[in-house]
Amino acid sequence: MVDIPREITETAHHHRVAVVWSVLSAEIERFAAGGDARMRIIDVGGGSGGFAVPLAELGHRVTVVEPSANALASLRQRAADAGVNDRVTAVQADADELPDVVEPESADLVLCHSVLEVIEEPETALDALEASCAQGGAVSILVANRIAAVFGKAITGHFSTALDLLVDVDGIIDGKDTIKRRFETATLTALIGASGLVTEQVHGVGIVGDLISASVAGAEAGSGEELREFELATASRIPFRDMGTQIHLLARKPIR
Ligand SMILES: C[S@@+](CC[C@H](N)C(=O)[O-])C[C@H]1O[C@@H](n2cnc3c(N)ncnc32)[C@H](O)[C@@H]1O
Repeated sequence: MVDIPREITETAHHHRVAVVWSVLSAEIERFAAGGDARMRIIDVGGGSGGFAVPLAELGHRVTVVEPSANALASLRQRAADAGVNDRVTAVQADADELPDVVEPESADLVLCHSVLEVIEEPETALDALEASCAQGGAVSILVANRIAAVFGKAITGHFSTALDLLVDVDGIIDGKDTIKRRFETATLTALIGASGLVTEQVHGVGIVGDLISASVAGAEAGSGEELREFELATASRIPFRDMGTQIHLLARKPIR
């Protein structure tokens, strides 16, 4: 397996990224088996480079397409600190502007993490992601899960809010939510299919990690490793998979 970068493994929230990194690591390895170790990666809504910079540290070339000037400034600083400026390109644009700022079918891997829930038109963004991905390439999507939000409210006694979340068409609490929608596994895979991408893997992220206190998680006692193991073991198993705080999906663009 590709080593998970130290910057990632040392974060307190390791269990939250372990599943995504394990899927990305396997995809990186799969690509390398084709004879080229350097991937061309586009990170849409990549923020300050939480994924982009570690990926550049692994030797890949990453273009971050991100509308926030502040996030891009942090990204540039982070890339400079890590000594990977030459492998990270920062572009200020929205997801739906992707066709104007990157070449079609120019990425071996496209990331879109925690973005589809905050933008106006996820369908348009997915079409743009599909267009930027090379044939045979992969798209990594991470989104908020309605089920976990309902469950989280219910187990803290907020039953009325939980029921609102359960029936709201977008899976949000009207007027109070910071995001525009939450997804469920079925609605997400349907959306991906409509874009022409083929879903290969679905994992749950944060099956219990976000529901329990830090002391229960054992982070303070140094046993966060056990939580990480639990998250990895349950991430692809139904029904756990569909209960995580986030849904991670790896889709592939077919070769025509
Ligand atoms: C929750 S952050 C996720 C950042 C990063 N992908 C990560 O996983 O750490 C959401 C990001 O989406 C960006 N964003 C907001 N609207 C967007 C849009 N229309 N197109 C692309 N990115 C957008 C925000 O500026 C922010 O950086």
